[in-house]
Amino acid sequence: MGCGMALVIEQFICRTDNFGVLIHDPGSGLTASIDAPEEGPIRAKLAEKKWHLSEIFTTHHHGDHVEANLPLKAAFDCSITGPSGEAAKIPGIDKAVSEGDTIVFGGFEIEVIETPGHTLGHVSYWIPSARVAFVADTIFAMGCGRVIEGTPEMMWNSLEKLLALPDETALYCGHEYTVANARFALTIEPGNADLVRRAKEVEQLRAEGKVTLPTTMALEKRTNPFLRVNEPAIRATLGMSNATPAEVFAEIRGRKDRFK
Ligand SMILES: [Fe+2]
Repeated sequence: MGCGMALVIEQFICRTDNFGVLIHDPGSGLTASIDAPEEGPIRAKLAEKKWHLSEIFTTHHHGDHVEANLPLKAAFDCSITGPSGEAAKIPGIDKAVSEGDTIVFGGFEIEVIETPGHTLGHVSYWIPSARVAFVADTIFAMGCGRVIEGTPEMMWNSLEKLLALPDETALYCGHEYTVANARFALTIEPGNADLVRRAKEVEQLRAEGKVTLPTTMALEKRTNPFLRVNEPAIRATLGMSNATPAEVFAEIRGRKDRFK
């Protein structure tokens, strides 16, 4: 590390509310796609930037994250890295990675953090030297992924791991769900002035057709109810002053699942 060339990150909408993300290392010329939600927009961005796709880093097996794996591999002969916990479900996977593995990407090292809950094998990719993490469907702006395959406790443990990342970490997420998340978050913590302000800001951004991501760990710590399970005001609202963090998380997640 330390060659001084910053990582270049391009984020763009795919499908309806998925994010495509390309990362590019100017030093080596390597380019990777974080997940592969849709072939067309990813190829359009590669063409616009005049980048050749060298790798895909898959976070989990859901169709809206792997749909373009095989078409992109056919077009670019890129290599595909994905979670060992669900490798059999990742189309075209070449390399399976697990907790603590380090991937060399040009002049950058990428650390693998297992973040199960949304799916059993879900991984996040963390680049310490760039202070950026790709968390897909684990954390969203003011929200978190639905707990589809795992348990609430498993998902909470995953969020706790990500909470250990530095506050200034930029978080790239799998979906633009921010406005709906903000409306729900306000039901859990209506007295949080940072949340009230951010909810207004993101409504305005969306009204202008802009996206609301990436976010930062610092901002999520202040406004994301799923990361604030130890906040006395939230515990009081839920009547769970003596519950464990995982129990509070499970209650908030359950309320979000029922929220209209
Ligand atoms: Fe998903």
